[in-house]
Amino acid sequence: MRLKESWRHWSTEQSKDFLRSGPEGKAHPSRAKTLSLLDGMSSVLDVGCGTGVMFELIRDLGLHIDYLGIDVTEKFLEVAQSLYPEDRHRFRRMSLYETKKLRRKFDAVICRHVLEHLPDYVPAIQSLYSCAAKKLILVFYLPPRPLRSKRKLDEHYQRGFYTHTYDLGTFLDHVLNKLSPLPREVRIHPRQGRSDSRYPWGDRYNIIYEVIRRSANKAS
Ligand SMILES: C[S@@+](CC[C@H](N)C(=O)[O-])C[C@H]1O[C@@H](n2cnc3c(N)ncnc32)[C@H](O)[C@@H]1O
Repeated sequence: MRLKESWRHWSTEQSKDFLRSGPEGKAHPSRAKTLSLLDGMSSVLDVGCGTGVMFELIRDLGLHIDYLGIDVTEKFLEVAQSLYPEDRHRFRRMSLYETKKLRRKFDAVICRHVLEHLPDYVPAIQSLYSCAAKKLILVFYLPPRPLRSKRKLDEHYQRGFYTHTYDLGTFLDHVLNKLSPLPREVRIHPRQGRSDSRYPWGDRYNIIYEVIRRSANKAS
């Protein structure tokens, strides 16, 4: 599916700083919360890994987690691979719609600020959940609402760039609680830091959905 954004046209210099520095960068509170949810996980698939900021944080903390990041934007993957040459194999060009090709599961699957920009994220969530042995961690500034029709995409903020706004109850009932197999539990971690105040959606809070599978260890 075509990604309607301009990231792939960015220069290497622009890409290097993308979500690494500034208000939505490494220090954003939602990143620390996401890291804390990786406690006890031995492998992670970072979907839409960008330039590898989550990998950098995992490495800086000295967590022993087998990491794989996938993304569709070549430039971002090149930046990640040049920043971490010894770990270049940990960054792979792959769309979240193709994760079946990986033919393996990861204890945790992270998907941070990707789904809200897709034309239709509902099928993507099931496929990410299927890759998770223990939990799926979804992070949004703008949690999505199910789309009423393919023609009614939410391009409210910027034409051609989807920024779906949310209805938390609908998302929970109609998307997360319809996953197969049914999750053991869905934990919602609200108010995990705001967006960048320079953007029209700057007042929105980050929400993290922690979707725990039945087979997951009860203590997780
Ligand atoms: C807003 S950025 C978030 C980057 C990173 N997850 C973070 O939180 O710093 C969205 C990322 O999703 C990637 N992306 C968009 N559509 C994708 C898809 N279908 N499959 C995989 N990655 C995708 C983009 O290339 C971009 O790197």
